[in-house]
Amino acid sequence: GIRARETLQKGLEKAIQEKLQNTQGKDYADALDILIESGKEHGKELTMQELKDGTLELIFAAYATTASASTSLIMQLLKHPRVLEKLREELRSKGILHNGCICEGSLRLDNIHGLQYLDCVIKEVLRLFTPISGGYRTVLQTFELDGFQIPKGWSVMYSIRDTHDTAPVFKDVDVFDPDRFGQGRSEDKDGRFHYLPFGGGVRTCLGKHLAKLFLKALAIELASTSRFELATRTFPRITLVPVVHPVDGLKVKFFGLDSNQNEILTGTDSMLGATV
Ligand code: HEM
Repeated sequence: GIRARETLQKGLEKAIQEKLQNTQGKDYADALDILIESGKEHGKELTMQELKDGTLELIFAAYATTASASTSLIMQLLKHPRVLEKLREELRSKGILHNGCICEGSLRLDNIHGLQYLDCVIKEVLRLFTPISGGYRTVLQTFELDGFQIPKGWSVMYSIRDTHDTAPVFKDVDVFDPDRFGQGRSEDKDGRFHYLPFGGGVRTCLGKHLAKLFLKALAIELASTSRFELATRTFPRITLVPVVHPVDGLKVKFFGLDSNQNEILTGTDSMLGATV
């Protein structure tokens, strides 16, 4: 693992050096630009090691996780057309989707936060297909758990996946059922530690609100302006490491829709097909 990290860091160092040298001719800032600038804002330029660590952390913590959840979201929408239709109904009822188009100016933060069913769908994707299986902690104080003594100084891992799989609050834990988070059931409300896709405690995920917003925007876009279908005969097998993802990707065909919900034929099949 340490050797693999060194290999990645070598590649990153090259990319960072190129970026530091070519500062002209770009009209946008990417994540690495922002990282470099953020150090300067606080009067302390980040060292090359800090930049490499920060970049690697973002690639795993921010990118791989969100990509995993996005793929799981698309897969569940493909498997559960009724969920997709219910999402569309919610978008219509809130005036966001009208005649097959996202109404101009309607995608505001307060509108998105008001979409309760969408919130349930994203929560359920993150419960059943939690991208990160767990986290590591150092034991600061000796403690006892179920009759076992865990000594100070040990490294321990808490498992998010096992927690979601065994938490007594979830009925039919293997079933994809967004309504479990809906009004009346609110299965995540009992107990603080049964539902933790973003971890917990002081090291809880820094990007959780951004990640949820991103996933919601993706779901709205998919539900509103496209039709999509599986491009393979069967759904792919899912593997869990390093994040939940389909073996060999999830092959999907996307079709744009016009305001009459007719497909917009803008390209060949190969242009419309995508692996996520
Ligand atoms: C669906 C998407 C995401 C999931 C499931 C997720 C999950 C997690 C989890 C479980 C942890 C805690 C690990 C631990 O207990 O040690 C964590 C930490 C972290 N996440 Fe996320 N994350 C997501 C997206 C993001 C995004 C988009 C960003 C940044 C833009 C981000 C930045 C971080 C950072 C910086 C930490 C480390 C915090 C610390 O150690 O103090 N994450 N994430």
